[in-house]
Amino acid sequence: MKLLHIDSSITGSDSISRRLSRDIVARQRAIHPDLQVEYLDLAAQAPQPLSLNALGFRAPAQDDSLTEAQRLENEVSEALVSQLLETDIVVIGAPMYNFTIPAQLKSWLDRVAQAGRTFKYTESGPVGLLSDKTVILALSRGGIYSANPDMEHQESYLKSIFGFMGVSDIRAVRAEGLNMGPEHRERGLAQAQADIQALMAA
Ligand SMILES: Cc1cc2nc3c(=O)[nH]c(=O)nc-3n(C[C@H](O)[C@H](O)[C@H](O)COP(=O)(O)O)c2cc1C
Repeated sequence: MKLLHIDSSITGSDSISRRLSRDIVARQRAIHPDLQVEYLDLAAQAPQPLSLNALGFRAPAQDDSLTEAQRLENEVSEALVSQLLETDIVVIGAPMYNFTIPAQLKSWLDRVAQAGRTFKYTESGPVGLLSDKTVILALSRGGIYSANPDMEHQESYLKSIFGFMGVSDIRAVRAEGLNMGPEHRERGLAQAQADIQALMAA
């Protein structure tokens, strides 16, 4: 069994989403002793945002007509989508920045959302191709969005795009209210731990 562990927080060892994703992966290792884990730290190394050179997977060209820059960008996209396709479980540490996910994580998603690989177009609309995968989101955010869901484009976006790619088993661990004072922070951290316990029991 394979697990892909992704982090995207820029706050290094202070990061809550990193702490949560690490905890989830450690528990998955305990459950599945044969687990093979690959790690992507997108804050340290992320694919470039999409560019004309990186669009090869959307408009395939004959190999000999590719420029060197296009060939290299295609290699990056191919490596990332192949890694995802070979994975059984994806654990993603994702903080909220400006109401959504970090740009580095969006860049990774832009590389793996590939027609014919992770979803396909049919006459009745798009169909996701990742139905055999489980995605576990380790989410951190400074505020609380239950009373203001229109501003929340982090968890809802990740659930939408993985749902679009066919994943129905999407679980979320949430630490929220982290920047609303010590009481809220403690409550948010305790809730995330409770979410992890519930995840393991499920
Ligand atoms: C650049 C930046 C933008 C942020 N924007 C938001 C935001 O829009 N909403 C929110 O609730 N928290 C926001 N926060 C707070 C973070 O979500 C919060 O500190 C969280 O713990 C960060 O995750 P981390 O601890 O894994 O780094 C922002 C933090 C940073 C650094």
